[in-house]
Amino acid sequence: MPRKIVKTKYFFEEDYRETIAEVSTDKYEDWKNNDTLKVVGKPVSRIDGYDKVSGTAKYTFDVDLPGMVHARILGSAYPNAIIKKINIKKAKQLEGVLEILTFENTPKIPWYNNSTFLFDSHVRCEGDEVAAVVAESECIAEEALKLIEVEYEQLPFVTSSNGAMKTDAVKIHDNGNIVGGRPAEYSRGNVDEGFKEADIVFEDTFDTQVAVHNPTEVHCSAANWDGNKLTVWDSTQGVFAVRNVVSASLGLPESDVTVITKYMGGGFGGKLETGKYTIIAALLARDLGKPVKITVNRKQMNLITGNRPDSTQSLKAGIKKDGTLTAMTLTSYSAVGAYPSWGGCSGPFRSIYKCGNMKTTEYSLMINAGRARAFRAPGHVQGTFALESFIDELAEKAGIDPLEFRLKNYSETDPNSGNPYTTKLLREAYKKGSEAIGWHQKRKATGSDTGYLKRGIGMATQIWGGSGGPPAYVTLKLNSDGSAIILGGSQDIGTGTYTFLAQVVSEVLEIPMNKMQVILGNTSSIPFGPESGGSTTAPSLSPAARDAAEQMKNKIMSGASAVLGLPENELIYKEAAVYAINDKSKSITIPDLMHRMHEQMFITNGARSVNPEHYAINSFGAHFAEVEVNTETGKIKILKIVAAHDIGRVLNKKTVENQFHGGIIQGIGFALMEERILDANTGKVLNTDFHTYKIPTIQDVPEIEIHVVSTGDNLLSNTGVKGMGEPAIIPTAGAIANAVYNAIGKRIKSLPMTPDKVLNALYS
Ligand code: MOS
Repeated sequence: MPRKIVKTKYFFEEDYRETIAEVSTDKYEDWKNNDTLKVVGKPVSRIDGYDKVSGTAKYTFDVDLPGMVHARILGSAYPNAIIKKINIKKAKQLEGVLEILTFENTPKIPWYNNSTFLFDSHVRCEGDEVAAVVAESECIAEEALKLIEVEYEQLPFVTSSNGAMKTDAVKIHDNGNIVGGRPAEYSRGNVDEGFKEADIVFEDTFDTQVAVHNPTEVHCSAANWDGNKLTVWDSTQGVFAVRNVVSASLGLPESDVTVITKYMGGGFGGKLETGKYTIIAALLARDLGKPVKITVNRKQMNLITGNRPDSTQSLKAGIKKDGTLTAMTLTSYSAVGAYPSWGGCSGPFRSIYKCGNMKTTEYSLMINAGRARAFRAPGHVQGTFALESFIDELAEKAGIDPLEFRLKNYSETDPNSGNPYTTKLLREAYKKGSEAIGWHQKRKATGSDTGYLKRGIGMATQIWGGSGGPPAYVTLKLNSDGSAIILGGSQDIGTGTYTFLAQVVSEVLEIPMNKMQVILGNTSSIPFGPESGGSTTAPSLSPAARDAAEQMKNKIMSGASAVLGLPENELIYKEAAVYAINDKSKSITIPDLMHRMHEQMFITNGARSVNPEHYAINSFGAHFAEVEVNTETGKIKILKIVAAHDIGRVLNKKTVENQFHGGIIQGIGFALMEERILDANTGKVLNTDFHTYKIPTIQDVPEIEIHVVSTGDNLLSNTGVKGMGEPAIIPTAGAIANAVYNAIGKRIKSLPMTPDKVLNALYS
């Protein structure tokens, strides 16, 4: 297994991650398109599907250990306050209450980049952790929370990025409200020169709201000690990340901590970080000598476990008469909550179109609200809505069809680095998508539909990273009966990781998938790999799985050569057996081979290869939307969404379509209804449940059509897979906004596009 250690980088969420990683240097024959493959690319049902639909799948939420007790958290009642006193006496007297943690009796464990502690006497948003109660039941723990008496000294607070920018604004932390002390800036070329070259200069401003992840499974952990060894079951996108934070927080060697995530009910970025609740469960379990389960309820999740930060984005561009972009600038303000986080949204602005003169300035501002976290394509979802609305406006100024305008400013190379792309099939995606929606036949002149129900068609582009990269490993064990165990350096957050790993191994070794066990999400048994985030899991893990399987095939061939007494070049591997090419009577199956070799198990370790140097690696695509706007009620109905993307090779047609459906539906929520409402008078969130924070239901789901225009990015890796979990949501809101404009001739520049905004745009 040729390996080397190399310096490399790959795009993770919103930025490049530099690593020095061990990689495989083995070269395997390129897979051709999926029609030539047996298992990969096919609409294979999830191998964990039965367990999930039958209810036997154990999620962290389902973990129930003998003697387990239950913990709940008390959150701050105020957006900014100093805790003067906590009286836990009454709560402790409640029968069944076992222990209560507060800042007074808990080790000072630094949190959020040392900007606070696990428990801190200064609480900076509603819901900030004040105390934790562990009791014999969840109900008793809940009751006890109400008996804790907290004396707060309320402080003035800030609830908007505007407010946070004021010179006399309340400082959330001593060093001011701008994260990092100054805005993030980027530039290339010379924007002043670029604007001089322009025939038309245009600017506009767009707003997006705070949206909350709201995965189906709430944030939760269970902790159990066995002597000095700790096992944590956690609903997390990164078992290794949690293991490392738990070990560091508790001062334990990593060998004493095991983190397990077998199944997970969604994360969307909100579960990339270790929760305070996880450490609290571990501390309580140690004190009590009992397993402790902790769950964060829906209300608390809406307050403190992360959100997509809001944005106000001012875009300016210069164009020539023919529509060529000459300069672009973006200034954005995002409120990221009470602790340092990131709220930039310039990724698509800087990367989609060809424009040499560019400047972006992004302010991430702290306010007294729950802290932002990565949320499915962080920055790109809000950035793409603004950019792609703006691009349609520019096209109109230039008198050019919006799709034509995009093609005119198409970038053949990465505008940031000048590097070529491994593959870029955005043109093909535009073509497929526009044909499927009927762009040229059905799309009417803007605002020309008659009657009170007005239909329109719009589109938006997406760009994302999604190359994946090393370090990522897969261990393969072949049993003596020819069945296999795959250990992947990952966890399955619901996207189908279990299934594609089995598919890749099955493709190479021709072992049926029902003879495979896939193990993920256990830090003590699996090899290392990335968090399930940034659309990196399949592009990182699938090549490592192929490497492990190809090595296994080589091992089998070499064993068969020794047993059969024939050179390897006279042997052929077929359906989990080896045959002599020239002598039909000579063959050996895997079980016979193992038996002859007195082995019970063959083991190989597969690794991801390095990403190709001097190339940009991105996924591309576009969504096309057809909408119907009721001009009497202001309600927008989505009739159809077409998604057309270059995502490299499809590993599993079914799970790829699942992900597109999920992303599009989540994008519809962002476009039309989802919005966290923070009351400026009280600093409290007014809608912390599904009754008041609206997400789409099946009634809101339109016809969805998916086209993948790529067959495989063979320059990228031995499987040619790019990530697609985030591309699925990115262009949805922009496509809908542009379709609404096409329908009614008025542009909604603020998300969500609720009926009141539509009516205001129409009649005021
Ligand atoms: Mo990330 S927002 O978990 O892909």
